[in-house]
Amino acid sequence: MEFSIKSGSPEKQRSACVVVGIFEARKLTLAAELLDKAGSGYISDIVRRGDMEGKAGTTLLLHNVPGTLCDRVLLVGLGKEKDFREKEFAQAIRAAVKTLNETGAFDASIFLTELAVKKRNVAWRVRQAAIVALDATYRFDQFKSKKEEVRRPLRKLTLGVERRSELSLAEEALKQGIAIAEGMALAKDLGNLPPNVCNPAYLAERALAMADELALECEVLERADMEKLGMHSLLSVANGAHQPPKLIVLNYRGARAGEKPVVLVGKGVTFDTGGISLKPAAEMDEMKYDMCGAAGVLGTLLAVARLKLPVNLTIIVPATENMPGGNATRPGDIVTSLSGQTIEILNTDAEGRLILCDALTYAERLQPDTVIDVATLTGACVVALGGVASGLFANKDALARDLLEAGEEAHDRAWHMPLWDDYQELLKSPFADMANIGGRWGGAITAACFLSRFTKKYDWAHLDIAGTAWKSGADKGATGRPVALLAHYLLQRTGQLN
Ligand code: BES
Ligand code: MN
Ligand code: ZN
Repeated sequence: MEFSIKSGSPEKQRSACVVVGIFEARKLTLAAELLDKAGSGYISDIVRRGDMEGKAGTTLLLHNVPGTLCDRVLLVGLGKEKDFREKEFAQAIRAAVKTLNETGAFDASIFLTELAVKKRNVAWRVRQAAIVALDATYRFDQFKSKKEEVRRPLRKLTLGVERRSELSLAEEALKQGIAIAEGMALAKDLGNLPPNVCNPAYLAERALAMADELALECEVLERADMEKLGMHSLLSVANGAHQPPKLIVLNYRGARAGEKPVVLVGKGVTFDTGGISLKPAAEMDEMKYDMCGAAGVLGTLLAVARLKLPVNLTIIVPATENMPGGNATRPGDIVTSLSGQTIEILNTDAEGRLILCDALTYAERLQPDTVIDVATLTGACVVALGGVASGLFANKDALARDLLEAGEEAHDRAWHMPLWDDYQELLKSPFADMANIGGRWGGAITAACFLSRFTKKYDWAHLDIAGTAWKSGADKGATGRPVALLAHYLLQRTGQLN
């Protein structure tokens, strides 16, 4: 979809459709009022008759509205004016775009971006509108032999701003929104791909292709390289798999050479059967999403590279399958991690932390400023926070605060969870330095505690996205989270967020 920004009156737009909002209690927004005036009360008549009451999520399509130059007018219900916040704004844009896709209009001018959203400026509204519009039109149908064609898809969206003085700010925000949406689409695609396609080698290929396209450096460590380094924790997860594991390192340099990088580590388990601690059959297909951490950091890198942000950013993806088999790791096996610490593997289904710990130790050699790992790590996190917030853990409160704020700004929220020492005891092993599980309770926290033992040398945060990376049920699919959160964090860090 193509986007542009414009300041001008709705009645003067020559587009196929003009989109304006109506609040509950039949209150017209400014743009709706202008249309109403031009049409001598045409809109307010319709609203008075009760065909559009302003309820959130409702839409009404009108043709031949007098006094206008456009073919159609789409009224979008916004709910109560006093409750109109970030969520309602996104809901209105989504409803508008979905409806437009079902009409014959190829292009539309949307005036919802002029609406006041508490504490948010025009840059936020435009950035968010682009992200939501592209999210709403995302499809994954490459494996359907008969595609459900959208008859006349929306091709061009013009976002209205109130004042000419806002144009340059809005243009910049639009670029950011498009780049973030592109990163999210990459993350969704990788997540949605079936596990027989998206295996560790495929992730490595995609990373190499990105490096080619964006002039990045990419290195892929093979099994032999990892053996030489001593990544026996990571390798123990790959033992049962026929697909060879890969450690992908992708490097973007946007700041001066000496500036310490931000490192993003993404869990890349391309299919998690649980290994010998086999998972139950129900919904096991969803464990193809167990590489959504990897997808999220790749998507974030794409957005950052497209925007040429002044930051040095490295992503590390430990990629493997977790399969049972004659050579698979057994419960009770003890391995020595890259850090030298030994781990008693009591449950082979707690494999994410086993690959992440070696990747996190590997990150030390990049002398990072900050390391953030992203992982579909625990079912316990889904129990705790559901599909709304990602679990956030950090060994530095200032970093946690920045990430929480970025999540709020992006409407891709996280919730700060404790990493107190009291939980560390649960990882005690009688035979090794630690066990890989902490027992029944506080599972998201003990998993984070495990990782914290490998991240003492730098500022570190961990995002558990087990509940937020994909949706189950009727609209099953990857969400592209937490690309928006991470991209906003990096925009903020580099002073690009207006
Ligand atoms: N990939 C799973 C976590 C997961 C489970 C994400 C369900 C989303 C939905 C992870 O590897 C795992 O299996 N974790 C175990 C840990 C346990 C054995 C300590 C879990 O959460 O059950
Ligand atoms: Mn598992
Ligand atoms: Zn897993």
